[in-house]
Amino acid sequence: MTGRVVVVTGGATGIGGGIARRFGRAGDLVVLNDIDAEAAERTAADIRADGGRCAVVVGDVRSAGTVLLVRDEALRVGGGRIDVLVNNVGDFRPASRTFLHSTEEQWQDLNEINLLHVLRMCHAVLPIMVDQGSGAVINNSTVEAFRGIPGHAVYSAYNAGVSAFTRSLAVEVAGSGVRVNAIAPDLADTGQTPAAAMLRGRDPDLLRTWVPVGRFGRPEDYAAVVEFLAGEGAGFVTGQTIPVDGGTLAASGWYARADRKGWTNLPNEA
Ligand SMILES: NC(=O)c1ccc[n+]([C@@H]2O[C@H](COP(=O)([O-])OP(=O)(O)OC[C@H]3O[C@@H](n4cnc5c(N)ncnc54)[C@H](O)[C@@H]3O)[C@@H](O)[C@H]2O)c1
Repeated sequence: MTGRVVVVTGGATGIGGGIARRFGRAGDLVVLNDIDAEAAERTAADIRADGGRCAVVVGDVRSAGTVLLVRDEALRVGGGRIDVLVNNVGDFRPASRTFLHSTEEQWQDLNEINLLHVLRMCHAVLPIMVDQGSGAVINNSTVEAFRGIPGHAVYSAYNAGVSAFTRSLAVEVAGSGVRVNAIAPDLADTGQTPAAAMLRGRDPDLLRTWVPVGRFGRPEDYAAVVEFLAGEGAGFVTGQTIPVDGGTLAASGWYARADRKGWTNLPNEA
């Protein structure tokens, strides 16, 4: 039992669900925020059934009011501490076919769901961590903060913002005992990007041609890295965004050939 107080936004399903369950299993007190009340209660019930502890705050983390509710509930159930903050919520939607088809309203929506709540949550929780002299923040960015993604230029810009914010904030608070890091996922099999939709009827065996490790990511893959970043083993790691992507960012445009005869950066030739 480590007994930390851990806030996870979007902690009911997908990557956030994996993160909440993992901290629950580690003996931490999980404060789970999600917009989906039913899914949040389901995940909390699973954590408790496994012997863990979980408090739920239902609400839209895009609202400044929810951010304060999450912080206050964490302080109430956690006896005045917050040890770990995982800003997990983010979404590539609303998407447009191209940037030229996108609207200013979509840019604003993408800002609110990917970046703005990360700033608000950090602004609300960091004073507590600084007063404690300890804490870890882990933000959820994306590989597309580092790699181009046509059709999602605005999404990638706000996630590059998450990673840049992570870097600069980490330097600012390092002297107070608080570390700030991020993960950059790719290809998670979740409600937002289900494996079936990514495959769209293609032969699953071809996954080995697109993803170096040859499979989609599972919520536990991302949760394991988040738990590491929150823990003492990462005590000398701050300001970084760690790709958790099965090697796609490293490959960046290189694909295994379907005929198993090496690699190509001209995929139609494979
Ligand atoms: N799925 C991927 O392959 C992938 C790739 C790169 C980055 N990411 C990032 O990882 C994070 C999680 O992705 P996922 O695929 O697990 O997402 P998901 O959509 O499957 O799950 C998100 C969870 O957050 C909750 N949620 C959504 N909006 C919310 C809001 N406004 N307030 C509170 N809760 C809210 C949902 O109810 C759900 O439980 C996101 O930041 C996403 O951008 C995912």
